[in-house]
Formats: sequence, structure tokens, C-alpha cells
Amino acid sequence: MEVVIAAPEDLVALAAGAIESLLAAKPAAVLGLATGSSPLGIYDELVRRHLDGRVSFSRARAFMLDEYVGLPPDHPERYRNVIEQEIASRVDFAPDAVQGPDGLAEDVVAACAQYEAAIVEAGGVDLQILGIGTDGHVGFNEPGSSLASRTRIKTLTDQTRADNARFFDGDIDEVPRHCLTQGLATIMSARHIVLIAIGRAKAEAIHHLVEGPVSAMWPATILQHHPHVSVLVDPAAASRLQLADYFRSTYAAKPAWQGL
Ligand code: GLP
Repeated sequence: MEVVIAAPEDLVALAAGAIESLLAAKPAAVLGLATGSSPLGIYDELVRRHLDGRVSFSRARAFMLDEYVGLPPDHPERYRNVIEQEIASRVDFAPDAVQGPDGLAEDVVAACAQYEAAIVEAGGVDLQILGIGTDGHVGFNEPGSSLASRTRIKTLTDQTRADNARFFDGDIDEVPRHCLTQGLATIMSARHIVLIAIGRAKAEAIHHLVEGPVSAMWPATILQHHPHVSVLVDPAAASRLQLADYFRSTYAAKPAWQGL
């Protein structure tokens, strides 16, 4: 696990750079896209680089992490619509190249199994962008999630619904109770995971992710078992890291050729 502590604009450039390099080496790469506010800067930077002719998604595919259950197709907070608005429609993905779990499926169990199969059929995710919840969830794998979980339906915690109420005019009652989410084992199958966290509200979750024991109580800690994770944090999100000085000096001395 590599931890980079830097200003948000530098973190965004690093993440976008990793995706640009991946697509240059493998134009048909498979990306994992996350929602939430954390990745938005990365998406904006990718759009800029696309408009500059530096990166093309024309042969790439993408899989979303999660989706609310039951939001109508045209609801602006349906994650499929959020991803469309924030990145998919702004770059040159082919039609149907971006997929998400079907939060309106009648047979939820079958839809989740199909989603897992689609990821495998695409060759697996090459680079997964992740945010993290204040309670340490990734995707919508709330505390207590099986560390071996696959795509399934979950019930959101009150904490997550309160955190996400800001996207629903501040009304927690408008935030769905259920979601479909890639499981922790699904996320762990990605070849490279780039997690970005900004702000003091994430400091405790980042401390547990990097320095805590692996525990379903802090689901992101499963990433300690992954061989290639880049944790990109601003100084506020890093403020509870005991090893912050070590991470800073390690990054400062990093060979220029190495990349994320
Ligand atoms: C949601 C998403 C997660 C995201 C988390 C943090 O619950 N399902 O994928 O990481 O929120 O969101 P934010 O980045 O807005 O803090």
C-alpha cells in the first residue's frame, strides 16, 4: 500500500496520470468508477486531458461500484445518471461501455450475479477508483460486510444516509435504504486500486484503512491484503496517520520513473 499525502490538485493529477498511462498502454482497459464527491476532481481532470487529446476512452470499458435501489430511471442521484453526467457523457466512451448494477431489477439476486459475470467477461477491472465513507465503507460495503462479499443488496446505515442526504436536498428520508454494491472481494479483484480521500471527516477512516487491524468493522481495511493500492490523501485526511512523516519522506524520495 502506497500512501501519498499531497494537496488535492496534486492527488487529482496523480490519479488522472495513472489512468492516462494505463489507457496509453492498454486502450481497451477496464476502469472501475466510483461516485461520491471524492472522485469528481479526477473526472474533471480526465475530461480536460481528453479534450487536450491526451487520453481516449473509445476502446475502454467501465464498471460502476454501486447503485441505489429503487430510484426512478431519470432521478438525478441515480448513480448511473451521476456517472453519465460527471464523466461518461463528457469523454468518448462507446455506447454501453459503462455498466452499473441494476437498481431497478425485479430479480435482484440474478442481476447481481450477472453483474459479477460481466466484470469477469470483460477481463476484470484494471484500475478501480475508490472513495471512502466516514465509517470506512468502500462502494456501499458498510461496517459488518463480509470481507469475502460479492455484488449484492445491502442496507445503508443511518450514518451513510445522513452523509449522503446532502445530495437529496438535505432530506435523509429521500435517501434510499437499499443499494446494490460490488462486494469487498469484487473490489479486491481489481488489479490496481486508487483510493482518494480529502478532508478531516475522512481522517479516522484513513487511519483505520492504513494502520488499523483488518476488520469488517472498517471494511476498507481489507485493502491491506491487496498487492497494489494507492491511497491518495490530503493533509487533513492524513491528520491521524501515525506514519505520516514516513509516508511523506518515502514519497519525496520515490524514483521518478515509478508512477503509482
Ligand atoms: C458513497 C459511495 C461511496 C463513496 C462514499 C464517500 O456512499 N457509495 O462509493 O466513496 O459515498 O462519498 P464522498 O466521496 O462524497 O465523501
